[in-house]
Amino acid sequence: MPHTVNSASIDLTELASTAQRELDAAADEAALEAWRIAYLGRKGRLTLVLRGLGELPIEERRRRGDEANKLKDALEAALEEKRSALQRARLAAMVEVGLDVTLPGRRKRIGRLHPVTQTLRQMLSIFVGMGFSVVEGPEVELDYYNFQALRIPEDHPARDMQDTLWLETKANGAPLLLRTHTSPNQARFMEQHQPPIRIAVPGKCYRHEATDASREWMFTQIELLAVDAGISMADLKGTLFEFAKGMFGQDRKVRFRCDYFPFVEPGVDMAIDCFLCGGTGCRTCRGEGWIEVLGAGMVHPEILSNMGYDTDRYTGFAAGIGVERIALLRHGVEDIRMFYANDLRFLEQF
Ligand code: FA5
Repeated sequence: MPHTVNSASIDLTELASTAQRELDAAADEAALEAWRIAYLGRKGRLTLVLRGLGELPIEERRRRGDEANKLKDALEAALEEKRSALQRARLAAMVEVGLDVTLPGRRKRIGRLHPVTQTLRQMLSIFVGMGFSVVEGPEVELDYYNFQALRIPEDHPARDMQDTLWLETKANGAPLLLRTHTSPNQARFMEQHQPPIRIAVPGKCYRHEATDASREWMFTQIELLAVDAGISMADLKGTLFEFAKGMFGQDRKVRFRCDYFPFVEPGVDMAIDCFLCGGTGCRTCRGEGWIEVLGAGMVHPEILSNMGYDTDRYTGFAAGIGVERIALLRHGVEDIRMFYANDLRFLEQF
């Protein structure tokens, strides 16, 4: 092997002084690494000397081996010394330009989920636990799904219940709007699926509202829809009671009242006693002692038959739950508008 022949003739004193000279000249980490490879690497000059020792007569091998190993230790030590000298120099240069290494470190700010997202996730996990699947639908919606498929024709007074934000763009001439509720997903899903159906549809909704402590112009709903043979009002109440218990514990009072929505028959709304005044009436519950959290009812049979379902066999219930209202009750927040005011002092509490 050529290196064993050459290595015996290498002058170790000369190698030591060249190595030291080159090491002194190395100005950065990259140069140090190149130097290490040149002398101590697998094919480095000193490594070749050590490898070639076996070819030498025994006496010569011992003497030169001793010398080469000492040199190896010396070069390794010199490398480490040079490396820490370079580090010290780098730090000194940083201090020069104004780095104060005695200052305490800056804490990294860790993000968190928005309180409405936290509540939304908790609500969905309760419904998933009851066998509902989570699906989603579009925020920009057709008049057809938002109103007409839900038995709300153009001149129906129920359109006033939900002041609508219309878009200037149209879809093939059909009016587009920001959905006012998550109920359009009822028809969207039923068009594509056959019973049994159990879905929970979360999403943002928009209404041209005068805002107050419990009303925002943008808010979140979860739509529940269950359609199957033999579904009754008892299933609706049982599901919603179970949800209220899962969310607020046993002690919260729940109230059901009759309400009107054109797409259900009968219709109800559900309210929870006000966390702030305990039922006596305050600004947050607008003097009522109760905070309405959802509208619900039995899916109108006309809607089921429009979807091609056999209404002698299938019935269903639906509900639209206000997520911010639940978050308000859950955390004792007095004004719904705080959720979207982007005040970190408020948001960091959750
Ligand atoms: C509806 O939106 C119906 N789609 C609900 C429904 C679904 C009824 C299925 C029957 C069957 P309503 O407008 O009442 O109904 O709104 C339902 C819930 O959304 C309210 O109880 C409230 O919790 C929430 N909500 C409504 N408007 C606002 C608003 N401006 N700000 C915050 N939350 C709101």
